[in-house]
Amino acid sequence: EDNITVRELAEKLNKTPAEIVKKLMELGTMASINQVIDFDTAEIVASLYEVKVQREIPEEEKLLQEIVDDESQLKPRPPVVTVMGHVDHGKTSLLDRIRKSNVALGEAGGITQHIGAYQVNINDSKITFIDTPGHEAFTAMRARGANVTDIVVLVVAADDGVMPQTVEAINHIRAAGVPFIVAVNKIDKPEANPERVMQQLTEYNIVPEEWGGDTIFVPVSAKTGQGIDNLLEMILLVAEMQELKANPDRPAEGVVIESKLDKGRGPVATVLVQKGTLHVGDCLVCGSNMCKVRAMMDDKGRRVEKALPSMPVEVMGWSDVPEAGGKVIACDEKIAKQIVELRLNEKKLEEQKKSSRVSLDEFFKHM
Ligand code: GTP
Ligand code: MG
Repeated sequence: EDNITVRELAEKLNKTPAEIVKKLMELGTMASINQVIDFDTAEIVASLYEVKVQREIPEEEKLLQEIVDDESQLKPRPPVVTVMGHVDHGKTSLLDRIRKSNVALGEAGGITQHIGAYQVNINDSKITFIDTPGHEAFTAMRARGANVTDIVVLVVAADDGVMPQTVEAINHIRAAGVPFIVAVNKIDKPEANPERVMQQLTEYNIVPEEWGGDTIFVPVSAKTGQGIDNLLEMILLVAEMQELKANPDRPAEGVVIESKLDKGRGPVATVLVQKGTLHVGDCLVCGSNMCKVRAMMDDKGRRVEKALPSMPVEVMGWSDVPEAGGKVIACDEKIAKQIVELRLNEKKLEEQKKSSRVSLDEFFKHM
């Protein structure tokens, strides 16, 4: 933490606490000796004595030094595309359709059980897709989806129009600052009205290119397959402009897309690799969980030995189920153990703080 008490600051500056209290008062801050002041205030006080202060580097950062990639190490990587939209507007159907036609195009392996993330091949280019639920309860998942993504496909059903989770998705997209494409779905339905969807979205400053705006709209039907090729083409077009790159030759970094406790396999997490290459045998940390990667499966349930940037893989070997959205970092096993210990301690301290606060409240209640 960046905070320090007046007493600690005085010690560091080799002054009496009373003098520091006085200086703070001159600066317009009333503080007692044991009071905690923030970094910026401490910095100002220190500067009055011509002392430069530095933030303390947390233990964890000392252990896990961030790897800075050199521009020359970066290689092109597939785009990560998240599909968002209101409940039942056809996100999963759209993804199923894309995957199915992809399999029909000669991709090896069959379709397995539902998975929240998968990769497809479109004329020598790969695209990683992430599905998100439209149900109200899953706001956090959509926010997370928007954050791990390069491009969002906003699905709006042509027979239903803009709905609450459509608007919420727009907000997530804007907060994340990612480009998006609107897929107007279910155009096969007799009651479909794509024009109305376009009209409704202008109220959110989303204007189609054909109306002079800068948003790509693609009418599609997950049911008949109409427009799907066009949608994929547009995704690749937007991705190309982004020039997405990552360094594959370094320890992996990624994020947990979904996780569960599997009866037979134990804790399993779908990890999207964002940087580096993830290998079987690697050691990972995620929150206060560790993983010695025992096995990895691709989105078709095939065992793989490694996963490159933008590839989603199911990872087995976790100490416990890691939280969805958690950051995953590959590192030396010894360091991983130390980090997990640090984080577990922190957790314990937090809980103690919470419970002592509660008991104090209880105490005052009974006075
Ligand atoms: P949530 O994950 O619950 O938010 O829903 P979703 O957006 O994934 O929708 P899903 O793909 O489950 O589709 C909902 C319903 O709409 C299903 O009954 C689909 O068969 C139907 N549906 C999806 N796309 C189309 C389409 O293009 N045309 C028609 N006619 N029906 C569709
Ligand atoms: Mg769905």
